[in-house]
Amino acid sequence: MTLDTQRLQKTIHALLSTGKGILAADESSGTIKKRFASISLESTAESRRDYRDMLLRSEGYERHISGVILYDETVDQMSCSGHTFSQLVFSRGVIPGIKTDEGKEEHPFWGPQTVTRGLKGLGERLRAYTERSKGTLGFTKWRQVIVVDPPPSDGFLDYTMHVMAEQAAWSLQCGFVPICEPEILMDGSHSLDQCRAAIERTLRMLYKCMEEQHVDPALTILKTNMALSGKDALTDPSATVATATLKAFHHSLPTTLPGIVFLSGGQRSPKATENLNACALEAKQTNAPWVITFSYGRALQDDALKLWGGKAANVLSAQAVFLKRARLNGLAQQGKYDQRMEKE
Ligand code: G3H
Repeated sequence: MTLDTQRLQKTIHALLSTGKGILAADESSGTIKKRFASISLESTAESRRDYRDMLLRSEGYERHISGVILYDETVDQMSCSGHTFSQLVFSRGVIPGIKTDEGKEEHPFWGPQTVTRGLKGLGERLRAYTERSKGTLGFTKWRQVIVVDPPPSDGFLDYTMHVMAEQAAWSLQCGFVPICEPEILMDGSHSLDQCRAAIERTLRMLYKCMEEQHVDPALTILKTNMALSGKDALTDPSATVATATLKAFHHSLPTTLPGIVFLSGGQRSPKATENLNACALEAKQTNAPWVITFSYGRALQDDALKLWGGKAANVLSAQAVFLKRARLNGLAQQGKYDQRMEKE
């Protein structure tokens, strides 16, 4: 397999620029329907377009956002700018990417764990994405969720991480940087330490599977969660979260991996920013070899979505809230965030 290593490295470098992170705007049709239901808005092709238009036409968001993860529908959907969304993002100097997994499915024996589908015909789909986006897409994202309690079996981790490594191999072959996203879910009442242990087991397995499939971690990006207690304990002190998270990374990640981007996973927006800041500081203190930044969905969008409420009259104020959140996360990525900034 001959890879365009230079192009891949350039994409990685741009995605991991200082003070920037990735916007996850890749909600599937089912997920966006739920998000819209929370503001009593019907999910239609038009309302989804208007919402993403509001976010992706925000003036100056490119100062804090290096990449945007798109969903299948959005890649070649026309935005109100007269360009498709992938072209619109690209024209701002931001790298568009694509969620390539096709969601989760139950397994006959592994419940409550589920397995991610989408490998079948992936090579063909990726080549079609290059066409549909007119060559603007730079990366892929594949998510596998993992329940902490009861702990995942070795067999489950081995299977799902092999699948994740295989989609990474296909992505690289088609010229995309794979963002591999094993997400240890917050749901449940597990402890922070149980979460940390699950992160370590999962990540060790992922990089073992990559090695077996000749995927070079240096050409990939990891997207994962911080070590957190279950949803019942959202009050974990940031310093504790950061220590446990970085400990898990130092125990399980190859030093050649260029970067880690965090998902928010259901944390409230300011808490996700505060925890990112603590992780950035801990990374510096422990001489972590990886760039650490954000790739938030809800924690970047929640407040803007509420304020927008589906009304054109609210676009500017919703964009201002989105920009502020992106800016604060950009500062947190550098360890420069202070909670007082929330009030500015
Ligand atoms: O796959 C999940 C998204 O990319 C991240 O979403 O930040 O809302 O957890 P989240």
